[in-house]
Amino acid sequence: MNSPANITDPLVLFMPSGKRGRFPVGTPVLDAARQLGVYVESVCGGRATCGRCQIEVQEGNFAKHKIVSSNEHISAKGPKEERYERVRGLPEGRRLSCSATIQGDLVIDVPQDTVINAQVVRKAAVDRHIERNPAIQLCYVEVDEPDMHKPLGDLDRLKAMLEKDWGWKDLLIAPHLIPQVQGILRKGNWGVTAAIHRDTDSSRPFIIGLWPDLKNEAYGIACDIGSTTIAMHLVSLLSGRIVASSGTSNPQIRFGEDLMSRVSYVMMNPDGREAMTKAVREAVNTLIGKVCEEGGVDRHDILDSVFVANPIMHHLFLGIDPTELGQAPFALAVSGALQYWAHDIDIEINLGGRVYLLPCIAGHVGADAAGATLSEGPYRQDKMMLLVDVGTNAEIVLGNNKRVVAASSPTGPAFEGAEISSGQRAAPGAIERVRIDPETLEPKYRVIGVDKWSDEEGFEEDAKATGVTGICGSAIIEVVAEMYLSGVISEDGVVDGSLAERSTRIIQNGRTFSYLLRDGEPRITVTQNDVRAIQLAKAALYAGVKLLMEKQGVETVDTIRFAGAFGSFIDPKYAMVLGLIPDCDLSEVKAVGNAAGTGALMALLNRGHRREIEKEVGRIEKIETALEPNFQQLFIDAMALPNKVDPFPKLAEQVKLPPRKVLAEETTGDGAPRRRSREERAARRRG
Ligand code: FES
Repeated sequence: MNSPANITDPLVLFMPSGKRGRFPVGTPVLDAARQLGVYVESVCGGRATCGRCQIEVQEGNFAKHKIVSSNEHISAKGPKEERYERVRGLPEGRRLSCSATIQGDLVIDVPQDTVINAQVVRKAAVDRHIERNPAIQLCYVEVDEPDMHKPLGDLDRLKAMLEKDWGWKDLLIAPHLIPQVQGILRKGNWGVTAAIHRDTDSSRPFIIGLWPDLKNEAYGIACDIGSTTIAMHLVSLLSGRIVASSGTSNPQIRFGEDLMSRVSYVMMNPDGREAMTKAVREAVNTLIGKVCEEGGVDRHDILDSVFVANPIMHHLFLGIDPTELGQAPFALAVSGALQYWAHDIDIEINLGGRVYLLPCIAGHVGADAAGATLSEGPYRQDKMMLLVDVGTNAEIVLGNNKRVVAASSPTGPAFEGAEISSGQRAAPGAIERVRIDPETLEPKYRVIGVDKWSDEEGFEEDAKATGVTGICGSAIIEVVAEMYLSGVISEDGVVDGSLAERSTRIIQNGRTFSYLLRDGEPRITVTQNDVRAIQLAKAALYAGVKLLMEKQGVETVDTIRFAGAFGSFIDPKYAMVLGLIPDCDLSEVKAVGNAAGTGALMALLNRGHRREIEKEVGRIEKIETALEPNFQQLFIDAMALPNKVDPFPKLAEQVKLPPRKVLAEETTGDGAPRRRSREERAARRRG
């Protein structure tokens, strides 16, 4: 035990946490870290054999902290550390904090090997460090051999040693391990490594794994179960390193493209819920196999897992009937965070492996939105942040450190290319970028898999391999926005038939007009109905956002985060021209990739983040858009481009918005506008 520090003792600052304190000369650096609550991994319990406790001394004059730090202020390597270096090797500048002692003022860097740079979606959007404090700890102990005079059982002596060396009190043990304890202790010649799981500080710790000798690696998975895609990271729990990342499509698609059709499937088929639960669990298990193969990891070395999902996926994954989520009041069976044994929900990892699910925010705002919220942290900052995750249901979170509100909006599948005549998922051959010349109304475009724009020489040759097959979600946003900017459509979204006189790109389709994007096989057009589908989707999203802005009492937002694959592909400028998102400095609009998955990873590597999001979700105010009386009016205003009533001054600084023109949607056949009767208009709205 070290004597209490006094004012003349060396000052030690740990980075990146910034925690500092004074410690008597001779204190092991690991002990100092522990006393300050700085997480430094240790498996061997200071025996200098696991190498997990590495730190680095930062040399220099840190005037702000009044510390002059130098390698002279840490003890020289002793025999144990030298042996470790000889046998296992230590990177230049690294020291074992269990062996190195404090000799003077120090700035200590705890290397954070976690760098999230693994996006399952195309664009790498997040690079960040996650401070580790996992729910699993590996603890090596040397257990006393049995003694006829002290008839304490082998397991009891193991527990006693885990308390003595590691401070674990009141340990429980996973039942499947009890019959194995004696064999493992003898196999390890009384030296064993126990995996201890403790999530909350008040919960009793559990021995969930036991291995003979020193076990120096343990893994976890962070998984986002989306309606169309399941994405997973495999991570070392001891270093925080992402070992592999992968994704697969959700096999539930065969039961229904969107969430509501899957709820209907459950309602219509007696075995529907069971079949979908089985399908999603099998897909998760297959994906575990895939990331393990990629990372060269045995799936039985996975000891912890964190899942996020939208409410319906969350329920189906857990085997809960989601029928209640299909109708008002959209009651969740459970909204709080959940803990499981992996084998209880058929997840094939270590038999003692654990599962943690983030809490759901509301009936339509799930644990995935909670994950994205944890990742982006609107509640951690002063700025008013808008966080949107666009899928068939847009999840919207708006707030800052004072107050956070959340809602969902039924955008439908238009943004994913469904309901669009030439729409398709993002794949080689899909048009992904579009520009329209406002003078000639001639388009140029780019397709996935081909570098050249369509007006560049050699494009047709290069595109032969992929073909030009349709328009993907990001391009649908662009093409409609470009049609508006070039005057092809009015602010009400009506294709201007009078332009047919000067451009063969405007073609008549019965009573409405279309824009011809590509003549050929297949012929790719943007029809009046396509524009309407996009308007409906974007109006639903914007009205939801606007409702939250009204709740917050703000006219503008300071910063916008687009989560999800869709958000990574769209150009913020076009999203704003369309009025998908409110006016904002374009430099403040960022795509953050799979933020829900990043949130899951944070909760996997640091149980403090679990408490953080559990607390925040409790404070987030949930708004049910369907119950808000002015949602309808906001929706109607948002049908216009960019919006009937809201100004877009910041956007106007960077983009020349066209003058207003109002057109009737249909013609009488000779090009003259045809007015619809009030009944027709009402029927269209209903239909
Ligand atoms: Fe294992 Fe330092 S704690 S080497």
